[in-house]
Amino acid sequence: MTTNPFQSTAPQIAASILSADFAILADEIADVDRAGADFLHLDVMDGHFVPNISFGPVVTAATRRVTAAFLDVHLMISEPERYAPDFLKAGADGLTFHVEVTADAAQTARRLRQMGCRHVGITLNPATPVEKIFPALDEVDHVLVMSVVPGFSGQKFMPEVLPKAQAVRKRLRGNQRLEMDGGIHSQTIRQARDAGVDWFVVASAIFDEKDRAAAIAELRGCLGSV
Ligand code: DX5
Ligand code: ZN
Repeated sequence: MTTNPFQSTAPQIAASILSADFAILADEIADVDRAGADFLHLDVMDGHFVPNISFGPVVTAATRRVTAAFLDVHLMISEPERYAPDFLKAGADGLTFHVEVTADAAQTARRLRQMGCRHVGITLNPATPVEKIFPALDEVDHVLVMSVVPGFSGQKFMPEVLPKAQAVRKRLRGNQRLEMDGGIHSQTIRQARDAGVDWFVVASAIFDEKDRAAAIAELRGCLGSV
């Protein structure tokens, strides 16, 4: 896996550990590393912004102890500024906050950076108009377009978000990256790629498969980048 996906402009596959077996998390991480995932995506849910609770800084720190891979932490939480320092201390490399939880997204991005976050991301739910993130685009390193309503893995891809990805792509600088998350598998990844996505977050289509190397190879095959 890579320690810095920004160094490449090639498509990257991020394995979301939300669908891993947490009883054997270190083995699961080693397995997706061997299988060819590019980096790890950590889905943090607070039971308030989304109707599910996943994990927080403790599991982030445990993940950090077993891998040098880039840790892309997706904060599905109502108070990202309050908890960001804990995730940075735990070893997060990137923090992505939801535009829906802040009145001033550019300011939230600047504050996360002031706290020491080296890679700041912004994301938006399928129902949120893409224009909401535009004022913050200059302040972020990556934009995550949600292709499911966040909260659970294993949901159906929402193709109606693809025009949002295209709209963001047009506005990004060369050193910024576009990420998509939710319902990505071999039948949907190509559509995301065609909309300009660089980073593909995948939970169930990797971790629910017995042969993770075959699963990742199939995804890369669909991208034409085997
Ligand atoms: C959605 C999370 C996603 C999710 C993806 O709430 O942000 O990262 O785990 O899961 P799949 O790939 O199974 O749709
Ligand atoms: Zn996510």
